[in-house]
Amino acid sequence: MTAVLEVEGLTKHYTFRRGWFGGEGAVRAVDGVSFTLAQGETLALVGESGCGKSTVARLVLRLTEPTAGAIRLKGQDVTRITGEPLRRARRDVQLVFQDPFASLNPRMTARQIVAEPLINYGEGRDAALAGRIETLFDCVGLARHQWDRFPHEFSGGQRQRLGIARALALNPAVVVADEPVAALDVSIQAQILNLLADLKRDLGLAYLFISHDLSVVEFISTTVAVMYLGTIVEIAPRDAFFRNPLHPYAQALLGSVPVTHPSQRGRRALLQGEIPSASALPSGCRFRTRCPLASALCAAQAPPLELKADGHRVACHHVPRADAAPAFASSQ
Ligand SMILES: Nc1ncnc2c1ncn2[C@@H]1O[C@H](COP(=O)(O)OP(=O)(O)O)[C@@H](O)[C@H]1O
Ligand code: SF4
Ligand SMILES: [Mg+2]
Repeated sequence: MTAVLEVEGLTKHYTFRRGWFGGEGAVRAVDGVSFTLAQGETLALVGESGCGKSTVARLVLRLTEPTAGAIRLKGQDVTRITGEPLRRARRDVQLVFQDPFASLNPRMTARQIVAEPLINYGEGRDAALAGRIETLFDCVGLARHQWDRFPHEFSGGQRQRLGIARALALNPAVVVADEPVAALDVSIQAQILNLLADLKRDLGLAYLFISHDLSVVEFISTTVAVMYLGTIVEIAPRDAFFRNPLHPYAQALLGSVPVTHPSQRGRRALLQGEIPSASALPSGCRFRTRCPLASALCAAQAPPLELKADGHRVACHHVPRADAAPAFASSQ
């Protein structure tokens, strides 16, 4: 599989002044995040609120400038491009919002909302434009009698269908979906997730899918990346991850969700304590203030993200490496 999106060492620090004499501080929102996303893949970014998921999305969409790192889109370095090259690249990465209501112009009809990006990019006129819009509405399951309605006349699920149609209008390679079903009723969530899965298959898309909800992630993802305080602490294929999460934080997250998977039964929630501030990080491993396995090594050194077992890359000193852990297989 060729990567459509590659992100390497992506970093975003927000600087601020600490009072009159405090000097400069930094919120390390995203710190050295790397991943690749291939066509047909759904990479889910999961983690608690404030861990940097939306900042990764904004960086990938080039809505905010990275402090460091690189973003490659279909092999092209887009990290620092501006002007017309950026405008062209932007077609290929589109966003589906959490709250379609906030993102859709209330004074435009559904048809106008979907037409807008096509018109902005000079895509087709009259008959061709109308045909493209009809195809998009068909793709997302909006009926003809709804095409001239305004956003407030739609239900939450229909509005999300409209938001998806708009995101797909320019035929992107990558869709970034930031908590796209979090605002919807559970029964509607499944419909929208199924729609996204069908569209990915039919249109050859790749998703960067952001969610704090692990049951949603288990349903939609092909790869799971767990973030904690701006870094990826574990990244693994979906099935391997849910069968056997290796990072203590990932285990705690899975322990604290309603149990859907038999192998998770009996896991206890071990997440305790406050999440530290992204502007005052602990030394060494960022999770050590809440980790039941923390040792002196954890306070001294940040653990690198490295291949452990079963396709998992994990940043933890106390998860043995695949080649050094004959006893490890028995933990499955
Ligand atoms: N514009 C900003 N200025 C300063 N800090 C920010 C800004 N945007 C986000 N942050 C901080 O960056 C961290 C990550 O935020 P965010 O990416 O929104 O997390 P998530 O989407 O996982 O909830 C948080 O500590 C947040 O307060
Ligand atoms: S490196 Fe140490 S503190 Fe960090 S997750 Fe692993 S055991 Fe816990
Ligand atoms: Mg967010």
